[in-house]
Amino acid sequence: MLENDVAAKDLSLVIKSELNKNGLVILPPMDVSTSFELVSTNVGDIDVCMLDPWYNKGIGGVRDDYNEFVMSLLTKASRISQHVFLWGFPEIVANFVSRIPSPLEYNCWLTWYYKNNPSVIRGWRSAQQTCLHLSRSEAQIFLEPFLTEKQLQKKEEGKLRYIPGPPSVIEAALNIGFIGRNEQTGHPAQKPEKVYDTLFKMTANSESLVFDPMAGSGTTGAIANKNGFKAILCDHNPDYIELMEKRLGLKRVSL
Ligand SMILES: C[S@@+](CC[C@H](N)C(=O)[O-])C[C@H]1O[C@@H](n2cnc3c(N)ncnc32)[C@H](O)[C@@H]1O
Repeated sequence: MLENDVAAKDLSLVIKSELNKNGLVILPPMDVSTSFELVSTNVGDIDVCMLDPWYNKGIGGVRDDYNEFVMSLLTKASRISQHVFLWGFPEIVANFVSRIPSPLEYNCWLTWYYKNNPSVIRGWRSAQQTCLHLSRSEAQIFLEPFLTEKQLQKKEEGKLRYIPGPPSVIEAALNIGFIGRNEQTGHPAQKPEKVYDTLFKMTANSESLVFDPMAGSGTTGAIANKNGFKAILCDHNPDYIELMEKRLGLKRVSL
């Protein structure tokens, strides 16, 4: 066996044994294209890929190749994932609705609505972010977590005529000031757990594996711990890797 093959085998074992032991793996800091390659080669198919990059305005700055960058992420995600979530502001995410790489298909345009954004400019006060939900046609969707006791009982009896899912607008306050104090980590673009909880309840069960290559403060990991699915997390910023280690009580793997 070549030396490279041995290394790849070891890497795959490290990741799988950490996932079995802790349910979570925090990778060392690396660029999203490297972590995609690492996961594709050493883990293979995953159930859900969370793509939450900077949004090309405000925090994180502007990159001229933003559309190409996001398209390359969608393409990489499409090769290994059943479900993909892509976050951004509406006018940015809109660019990708007609460019969905096969075998992914458009599933839903989700809106995260928050009322508590402090206005710093004159004019409209931004109160929404968009999340595009893309899925393969055969991808599993879990609706039971959203049913009431009564609906579950009716379903058992075969009397539920249709299964209502959650609304495509998720209302949750921004974690700022006193709001969401117990969740706040200091990451400048941290998502509220309530928002991610809804996305993952619909797409992941205890058997599922989620990959979040730009995990920031580790919100995906926090929900994985609560809801019982497995997750691989990464970010290119070493400070944020430290932040998620602290939040999740877990050290990064050494590769
Ligand atoms: C919007 S934040 C993610 C927030 C996260 N969902 C949370 O709830 O904390 C975007 C993250 O993408 C990371 N990021 C941006 N470009 C990256 C790249 N090329 N490779 C890896 N991570 C990247 C940033 O460091 C930042 O933490």
